[in-house]
Amino acid sequence: MKVLVLHGPNLNLLGSRETHIYGAVTLDGINRNLDALAKELGAGLTIHQSNDEGDLVAWIQKAAGQYDALVINPGAYTHTSIALRDAIAAVDIPTVEVHLSNLYRREEFRQHSYIAGVAVGQISGFGPESYALGLRAAVSHVRAQQATAKK
Ligand code: DQA
Repeated sequence: MKVLVLHGPNLNLLGSRETHIYGAVTLDGINRNLDALAKELGAGLTIHQSNDEGDLVAWIQKAAGQYDALVINPGAYTHTSIALRDAIAAVDIPTVEVHLSNLYRREEFRQHSYIAGVAVGQISGFGPESYALGLRAAVSHVRAQQATAKK
């Protein structure tokens, strides 16, 4: 079981960026927690961050046939990027969309996600824990699919 985690734009600034919304935990802190959780769950993990939409599209394209699941916080591209949505739809890898903040308690423009329609589901509002919940959800979704396929 191999899971790809992608962090989108400005998430490299976690820990100093709008801490009243996103909290004080850095991206390194989140990634360390994810690494520990992945070990516990028996999953292999690769993690990337980019501020560039093209990098994210390229990583998603390369994930085809390489990863069993994708956990992605697309940051602001959530609300703008048909290219990211199309990439996820193209590779057909089960995808969990995660957000630190609860999008539905925020500005109206954050309440639409281009990604949600091609994701298995979305986790939003639990701070850094959203990522841990997302990883757990991705792993259990894939394991359930694998168990069904064996029957
Ligand atoms: C975010 C929410 C987005 O609206 C915002 O642009 C981000 C972070 C979140 O994790 O809460 O950059 O994806």
